[in-house]
Amino acid sequence: MDLEARIGNWFSHLAEMGPDHVEARRDVELVITKLDDGQLRVADIDATGSVVVHEWVKQAILLLFRLRGLERHEVGPFEYVDKLDLKTDYERRGVRVVPGASARRGSYLSPGVILMPSYVNIGAWVGANTMVDTWATVGSCAQIGANVHLAGGVGIGGVLEPANAVPVVIEDDAFIGSRCMVVEGARVGRGSVLGAGTILNPSIPVIDAATGEEVSRGYVPDYCVAVMAQRRREFAGGEFFLPCVLIIQRLSEGERHNKVALNEILRDHGVAT
Ligand SMILES: CC(C)(COP(=O)(O)OP(=O)(O)OC[C@H]1O[C@@H](n2cnc3c(N)ncnc32)[C@H](O)[C@@H]1OP(=O)(O)O)[C@@H](O)C(=O)NCCC(=O)NCCS
Repeated sequence: MDLEARIGNWFSHLAEMGPDHVEARRDVELVITKLDDGQLRVADIDATGSVVVHEWVKQAILLLFRLRGLERHEVGPFEYVDKLDLKTDYERRGVRVVPGASARRGSYLSPGVILMPSYVNIGAWVGANTMVDTWATVGSCAQIGANVHLAGGVGIGGVLEPANAVPVVIEDDAFIGSRCMVVEGARVGRGSVLGAGTILNPSIPVIDAATGEEVSRGYVPDYCVAVMAQRRREFAGGEFFLPCVLIIQRLSEGERHNKVALNEILRDHGVAT
């Protein structure tokens, strides 16, 4: 049996799994090492643009929680009690980690990633040169592209269960404004900009301001500038306003929004943004 089949087998016996199960633990730790080094990932985008979830990799992560017991760690005055390890070896990986940031082992951080005091959970993938700004959180299994900026306080949701659930995907060159919440398998396309404070999930309609049409639910297509807005909705009890995400501008392919480009220029010249 290959690794994938063995993980499937252990997962079908999930209830019997515990820290003493040496064989299962060896297989699961191998998957986590491969995730940590970017040799495996939980999901990717295929040639047709669809998100493909590798369910067995997620099953390995779920097994890990069964196979690990709690351990106590002390760092100076700080004490932690957890089942999982933290990521290490950042210098070799070419990743900058500001004090206060932490990433769990089994997340992958590509060269050039900057972690401001932020958090990256297991199974997440973060592409090259992406900035995870202060208090941003990248949930388990979320897939973040290259050259992305997750601005301060952004919440990227994690999806562990069920194992076939689609994770949040942020594609290359996207800019996610401060305090946005992108959760439950929502997706932001390449080069798109989400205005500060936008909430995107698979129930929230994404409406094109130029046509008034709903283009999707929970998916902002490539090269759009979108902000949080409201739509009128009739209920038996009266008229109310529910949130929607409004596309206020379409960028041409490869174009950077002027405000986003300005941030990058300032950062490239060492000016704090
Ligand atoms: C979305 C954004 C990029 C739009 O910038 P812009 O293209 O220059 O557009 P404008 O500022 O002219 O705004 C266009 C309209 O959208 C509205 N709008 C802008 N940002 C909005 C937001 N975050 N939420 C809701 N509405 C917003 C404006 O009020 C404006 O409405 P108006 O035409 O009636 O005046 C910008 O407003 C934004 O949110 N940037 C992210 C900032 C951030 O998070 N920085 C992180 C620190 S580095």
